[in-house]
Amino acid sequence: MSVHKAIFPVAGLGTRFLPATKAQPKEMLPVVDKPLIQYAVEEAYAAGVREMIFVTGRHKRPIEDHFDMTFELELALEQSGKRELLDVVRSVKPDDMECVYVRQPQALGLGHAVLCAQRLIGNEPFAVLLADDLMVGAPPVLAQMVEQYADWRASILAVQEVPPEQTRRYGIVDGTMVGERVMDVSRIVEKPAPENAPSRWGVAGRYILTPGVFHEIAHQPHGVGGEIQLTDGIAALLRREKVFAYRYRGQRYDCGSKEGFLQANVELALAHRDLGAGFRSYLKSLTL
Ligand code: UTP
Repeated sequence: MSVHKAIFPVAGLGTRFLPATKAQPKEMLPVVDKPLIQYAVEEAYAAGVREMIFVTGRHKRPIEDHFDMTFELELALEQSGKRELLDVVRSVKPDDMECVYVRQPQALGLGHAVLCAQRLIGNEPFAVLLADDLMVGAPPVLAQMVEQYADWRASILAVQEVPPEQTRRYGIVDGTMVGERVMDVSRIVEKPAPENAPSRWGVAGRYILTPGVFHEIAHQPHGVGGEIQLTDGIAALLRREKVFAYRYRGQRYDCGSKEGFLQANVELALAHRDLGAGFRSYLKSLTL
Protein backbone atom coordinates (compact mmCIF):
# COMPACT_ATOMS: atom_id res chain seq x y z
CA MET A 1 0.00 0.00 0.00
CA SER A 2 1.38 3.40 -0.92
CA VAL A 3 0.60 6.84 0.48
CA HIS A 4 -2.59 8.37 -0.95
CA LYS A 5 -3.51 10.98 1.64
CA ALA A 6 -1.69 13.94 3.15
CA ILE A 7 -2.52 16.20 6.08
CA PHE A 8 -1.58 19.88 5.91
CA PRO A 9 -1.95 21.44 9.35
CA VAL A 10 -2.61 25.12 8.66
CA ALA A 11 -4.35 26.19 11.85
CA GLY A 12 -1.36 27.56 13.77
CA LEU A 13 -1.32 31.15 14.98
CA GLY A 14 1.89 32.08 13.16
CA THR A 15 2.97 34.45 15.93
CA ARG A 16 6.55 34.60 14.66
CA PHE A 17 5.31 36.25 11.50
CA LEU A 18 3.05 38.97 12.87
CA PRO A 19 1.69 41.31 11.66
CA ALA A 20 1.60 39.52 8.25
CA THR A 21 -0.30 36.62 9.80
CA LYS A 22 -2.86 38.69 11.70
CA ALA A 23 -5.66 38.06 9.18
CA GLN A 24 -4.24 35.35 6.93
CA PRO A 25 -2.59 31.99 7.49
CA LYS A 26 1.19 32.06 7.17
CA GLU A 27 0.85 29.19 4.68
CA MET A 28 -0.61 31.72 2.20
CA LEU A 29 2.51 33.92 2.28
CA PRO A 30 4.01 33.83 -1.22
CA VAL A 31 7.59 32.83 -1.93
CA VAL A 32 8.35 34.58 -5.24
CA ASP A 33 4.98 33.92 -6.93
CA LYS A 34 3.38 30.98 -5.13
CA PRO A 35 1.92 30.64 -1.64
CA LEU A 36 3.81 28.30 0.68
CA ILE A 37 0.88 25.89 0.81
CA GLN A 38 1.01 25.41 -2.95
CA TYR A 39 4.66 24.33 -2.82
CA ALA A 40 3.73 21.71 -0.21
CA VAL A 41 0.69 20.49 -2.15
CA GLU A 42 2.76 20.18 -5.33
CA GLU A 43 5.37 18.20 -3.41
CA ALA A 44 2.68 15.81 -2.13
CA TYR A 45 1.15 15.47 -5.60
CA ALA A 46 4.58 14.65 -7.07
CA ALA A 47 4.87 11.88 -4.48
CA GLY A 48 1.62 10.28 -5.68
CA VAL A 49 -0.71 11.75 -3.04
CA ARG A 50 -4.14 12.65 -4.45
CA GLU A 51 -6.20 13.46 -1.36
CA MET A 52 -5.12 16.66 0.36
CA ILE A 53 -6.58 17.21 3.82
CA PHE A 54 -6.22 20.71 5.24
CA VAL A 55 -6.64 21.20 8.96
CA THR A 56 -7.72 24.80 9.09
CA GLY A 57 -8.35 27.34 11.80
CA ARG A 58 -10.13 30.63 11.72
CA HIS A 59 -8.40 31.72 8.47
CA LYS A 60 -9.97 29.04 6.34
CA ARG A 61 -11.19 31.04 3.37
CA PRO A 62 -7.98 32.07 1.56
CA ILE A 63 -6.72 28.47 1.41
CA GLU A 64 -10.08 27.06 0.29
CA ASP A 65 -10.38 29.79 -2.33
CA HIS A 66 -6.86 29.18 -3.59
CA PHE A 67 -7.58 25.52 -4.38
CA ASP A 68 -11.08 26.21 -5.71
CA MET A 69 -12.05 27.00 -9.27
CA THR A 70 -11.99 30.74 -10.01
CA PHE A 71 -14.61 30.88 -12.71
CA GLU A 72 -14.58 34.65 -13.44
CA LEU A 73 -10.78 34.77 -13.59
CA GLU A 74 -10.56 31.74 -15.86
CA LEU A 75 -13.24 33.15 -18.15
CA ALA A 76 -11.49 36.53 -18.34
CA LEU A 77 -8.14 34.91 -19.14
CA GLU A 78 -9.75 32.67 -21.75
CA GLN A 79 -11.54 35.56 -23.44
CA SER A 80 -8.39 37.65 -23.56
CA GLY A 81 -6.40 34.73 -24.99
CA LYS A 82 -3.97 34.58 -22.04
CA ARG A 83 -3.44 30.86 -22.45
CA GLU A 84 -0.25 30.60 -20.40
CA LEU A 85 -1.76 32.36 -17.40
CA LEU A 86 -4.88 30.24 -17.72
CA ASP A 87 -2.71 27.11 -17.50
CA VAL A 88 -0.97 28.54 -14.43
CA VAL A 89 -4.32 29.13 -12.73
CA ARG A 90 -5.75 25.73 -13.69
CA SER A 91 -2.66 23.80 -12.65
CA VAL A 92 -3.14 24.84 -9.01
CA LYS A 93 -5.65 22.01 -8.64
CA PRO A 94 -5.28 19.16 -11.13
CA ASP A 95 -8.55 17.31 -11.89
CA ASP A 96 -7.48 14.12 -10.15
CA MET A 97 -6.65 15.91 -6.90
CA GLU A 98 -9.19 16.15 -4.10
CA CYS A 99 -9.11 18.80 -1.40
CA VAL A 100 -10.84 18.23 1.92
CA TYR A 101 -11.08 20.66 4.83
CA VAL A 102 -11.47 19.94 8.49
CA ARG A 103 -11.49 22.44 11.28
CA GLN A 104 -9.25 22.54 14.35
CA PRO A 105 -11.45 24.59 16.68
CA GLN A 106 -8.54 25.74 18.83
CA ALA A 107 -4.81 25.76 18.10
CA LEU A 108 -3.99 23.05 20.63
CA GLY A 109 -0.77 21.94 18.98
CA LEU A 110 0.43 20.03 15.96
CA GLY A 111 -0.49 16.64 17.44
CA HIS A 112 -4.02 17.83 18.04
CA ALA A 113 -4.23 19.22 14.49
CA VAL A 114 -3.23 15.83 13.05
CA LEU A 115 -5.76 14.11 15.28
CA CYS A 116 -8.51 16.32 13.84
CA ALA A 117 -8.00 14.52 10.49
CA GLN A 118 -8.20 11.00 11.90
CA ARG A 119 -11.65 10.16 10.54
CA LEU A 120 -10.64 11.27 7.05
CA ILE A 121 -7.55 9.07 7.04
CA GLY A 122 -8.99 5.79 8.27
CA ASN A 123 -6.65 2.84 8.52
CA GLU A 124 -3.87 3.66 6.09
CA PRO A 125 -0.47 5.32 6.14
CA PHE A 126 -0.50 9.05 5.48
CA ALA A 127 1.85 11.99 5.03
CA VAL A 128 2.01 15.16 7.11
CA LEU A 129 3.52 18.25 5.50
CA LEU A 130 4.19 21.48 7.35
CA ALA A 131 4.00 24.06 4.60
CA ASP A 132 6.09 26.61 6.48
CA ASP A 133 9.03 24.24 5.96
CA LEU A 134 9.63 24.84 2.28
CA MET A 135 11.59 21.93 0.81
CA VAL A 136 13.51 21.98 -2.43
CA GLY A 137 14.75 18.60 -3.58
CA ALA A 138 15.12 16.54 -6.73
CA PRO A 139 13.29 14.23 -6.49
CA PRO A 140 10.99 16.18 -4.17
CA VAL A 141 11.53 15.32 -0.50
CA LEU A 142 8.18 13.57 0.08
CA ALA A 143 8.75 11.41 -3.01
CA GLN A 144 12.08 10.33 -1.50
CA MET A 145 10.24 9.44 1.70
CA VAL A 146 7.54 7.44 -0.08
CA GLU A 147 10.36 5.41 -1.63
CA GLN A 148 11.71 4.77 1.87
CA TYR A 149 8.25 3.81 3.06
CA ALA A 150 8.04 1.21 0.29
CA ASP A 151 11.26 -0.34 1.65
CA TRP A 152 10.56 -0.21 5.38
CA ARG A 153 6.74 -0.28 5.62
CA ALA A 154 6.88 1.82 8.78
CA SER A 155 6.69 5.47 9.81
CA ILE A 156 9.37 7.67 8.24
CA LEU A 157 10.50 11.01 9.71
CA ALA A 158 12.39 13.48 7.54
CA VAL A 159 15.56 14.59 9.30
CA GLN A 160 18.46 16.86 8.55
CA GLU A 161 21.78 17.40 10.26
CA VAL A 162 21.54 20.53 12.43
CA PRO A 163 24.37 22.60 13.92
CA PRO A 164 24.93 21.74 17.62
CA GLU A 165 23.80 25.18 18.79
CA GLN A 166 20.42 24.67 17.08
CA THR A 167 19.30 21.40 18.69
CA ARG A 168 16.90 23.40 20.89
CA ARG A 169 14.76 24.17 17.84
CA TYR A 170 14.11 20.57 16.79
CA GLY A 171 12.96 17.13 17.81
CA ILE A 172 16.22 15.14 17.83
CA VAL A 173 16.33 11.41 17.11
CA ASP A 174 18.53 8.66 18.52
CA GLY A 175 18.94 5.12 17.21
CA THR A 176 20.89 2.70 15.04
CA MET A 177 22.00 3.41 11.50
CA VAL A 178 20.56 0.88 9.07
CA GLY A 179 21.65 2.61 5.87
CA GLU A 180 23.70 5.60 4.82
CA ARG A 181 20.73 7.93 5.29
CA VAL A 182 18.41 5.85 7.45
CA MET A 183 18.22 5.41 11.21
CA ASP A 184 16.10 2.88 13.09
CA VAL A 185 14.83 5.29 15.74
CA SER A 186 14.88 4.26 19.40
CA ARG A 187 14.16 7.64 20.96
CA ILE A 188 13.05 11.13 20.06
CA VAL A 189 13.78 14.10 22.31
CA GLU A 190 11.94 17.39 21.86
CA LYS A 191 14.13 20.51 21.70
CA PRO A 192 17.10 19.30 23.81
CA ALA A 193 19.98 21.52 24.91
CA PRO A 194 23.11 20.71 22.83
CA GLU A 195 24.69 18.79 25.72
CA ASN A 196 21.60 16.56 26.03
CA ALA A 197 21.03 16.01 22.30
CA PRO A 198 21.44 12.29 21.46
CA SER A 199 22.44 13.12 17.86
CA ARG A 200 22.43 16.02 15.45
CA TRP A 201 19.58 14.68 13.38
CA GLY A 202 16.70 17.12 13.70
CA VAL A 203 13.17 16.36 12.52
CA ALA A 204 11.91 18.58 9.68
CA GLY A 205 8.29 19.20 8.66
CA ARG A 206 7.67 16.04 6.60
CA TYR A 207 6.38 12.78 8.01
CA ILE A 208 4.91 9.53 6.77
CA LEU A 209 3.00 7.99 9.65
CA THR A 210 1.10 4.79 10.24
CA PRO A 211 -2.47 5.15 11.57
CA GLY A 212 -1.34 3.72 14.93
CA VAL A 213 -0.08 7.20 15.77
CA PHE A 214 -3.65 8.50 16.24
CA HIS A 215 -4.22 6.27 19.24
CA GLU A 216 -0.93 7.46 20.72
CA ILE A 217 -1.66 11.16 20.18
CA ALA A 218 -5.14 10.79 21.65
CA HIS A 219 -3.66 9.34 24.83
CA GLN A 220 -1.01 11.98 25.35
CA PRO A 221 -1.37 14.25 28.35
CA HIS A 222 -1.65 17.93 27.37
CA GLY A 223 1.72 19.68 27.55
CA VAL A 224 2.64 23.30 28.15
CA GLY A 225 -0.27 25.66 27.34
CA GLY A 226 -2.65 22.70 26.84
CA GLU A 227 -0.81 21.75 23.64
CA ILE A 228 -0.72 18.21 22.29
CA GLN A 229 2.57 17.59 20.51
CA LEU A 230 3.06 15.32 17.53
CA THR A 231 6.54 14.45 18.80
CA ASP A 232 5.04 12.98 21.99
CA GLY A 233 2.69 10.84 19.90
CA ILE A 234 5.60 9.59 17.80
CA ALA A 235 7.67 8.91 20.93
CA ALA A 236 4.82 6.72 22.22
CA LEU A 237 4.40 5.01 18.82
CA LEU A 238 8.07 4.00 18.99
CA ARG A 239 7.30 1.66 21.85
CA ARG A 240 4.91 -0.36 19.66
CA GLU A 241 6.15 0.01 16.10
CA LYS A 242 9.31 0.61 14.14
CA VAL A 243 9.95 4.24 13.18
CA PHE A 244 12.72 5.29 10.81
CA ALA A 245 14.43 8.63 10.31
CA TYR A 246 15.49 9.46 6.78
CA ARG A 247 18.12 12.12 6.04
CA TYR A 248 16.60 13.66 2.94
CA ARG A 249 18.49 15.06 -0.03
CA GLY A 250 17.55 18.69 -0.49
CA GLN A 251 17.30 22.09 1.06
CA ARG A 252 14.86 23.29 3.72
CA TYR A 253 13.80 26.89 4.34
CA ASP A 254 12.12 27.67 7.64
CA CYS A 255 9.51 30.03 6.26
CA GLY A 256 7.76 30.26 9.63
CA SER A 257 10.60 32.65 10.55
CA LYS A 258 11.18 35.96 8.80
CA GLU A 259 14.83 35.17 8.12
CA GLY A 260 14.15 31.78 6.51
CA PHE A 261 11.32 33.26 4.50
CA LEU A 262 13.58 35.99 3.10
CA GLN A 263 16.30 33.45 2.26
CA ALA A 264 13.76 31.31 0.41
CA ASN A 265 12.57 34.29 -1.60
CA VAL A 266 16.08 35.27 -2.62
CA GLU A 267 17.22 31.74 -3.52
CA LEU A 268 14.05 30.74 -5.34
CA ALA A 269 13.99 34.04 -7.22
CA LEU A 270 17.59 33.39 -8.32
CA ALA A 271 16.57 29.92 -9.53
CA HIS A 272 13.38 31.15 -11.22
CA ARG A 273 13.16 30.51 -14.96
CA ASP A 274 11.93 33.98 -15.91
CA LEU A 275 13.16 36.14 -13.06
CA GLY A 276 16.52 34.55 -12.19
CA ALA A 277 18.91 36.36 -14.51
CA GLY A 278 17.47 39.83 -13.96
CA PHE A 279 17.27 39.36 -10.22
CA ARG A 280 20.88 38.19 -10.08
CA SER A 281 22.12 41.35 -11.80
CA TYR A 282 19.92 43.44 -9.52
CA LEU A 283 21.48 41.82 -6.42
CA LYS A 284 24.97 42.32 -7.85
CA SER A 285 24.18 45.99 -8.42
CA LEU A 286 23.46 46.51 -4.73
CA THR A 287 26.45 47.87 -2.92
CA LEU A 288 26.16 45.99 0.38
P1 UTP B 1 4.35 26.07 14.48
O1 UTP B 1 5.03 25.36 15.55
O2 UTP B 1 5.19 26.76 13.47
O3 UTP B 1 3.29 27.08 15.16
O4 UTP B 1 3.40 25.04 13.73
P2 UTP B 1 2.52 28.32 14.58
O5 UTP B 1 1.48 28.65 15.58
O6 UTP B 1 2.01 28.06 13.20
O7 UTP B 1 3.62 29.46 14.45
P3 UTP B 1 4.34 30.36 15.56
O8 UTP B 1 5.36 29.49 16.22
O9 UTP B 1 3.30 30.91 16.49
O10 UTP B 1 4.97 31.46 14.73
C1 UTP B 1 3.85 24.12 12.76
C2 UTP B 1 2.72 23.78 11.82
O11 UTP B 1 1.61 23.23 12.54
C3 UTP B 1 0.43 23.96 12.33
C4 UTP B 1 0.87 25.33 11.85
O12 UTP B 1 -0.12 25.93 11.04
C5 UTP B 1 2.15 25.00 11.10
O13 UTP B 1 1.89 24.60 9.77
N1 UTP B 1 -0.33 23.98 13.61
C6 UTP B 1 0.29 24.25 14.78
C7 UTP B 1 -1.68 23.71 13.58
O14 UTP B 1 -2.28 23.45 12.51
N2 UTP B 1 -2.38 23.71 14.77
C8 UTP B 1 -1.77 23.99 15.94
O15 UTP B 1 -2.46 23.95 16.97
C9 UTP B 1 -0.40 24.27 15.95
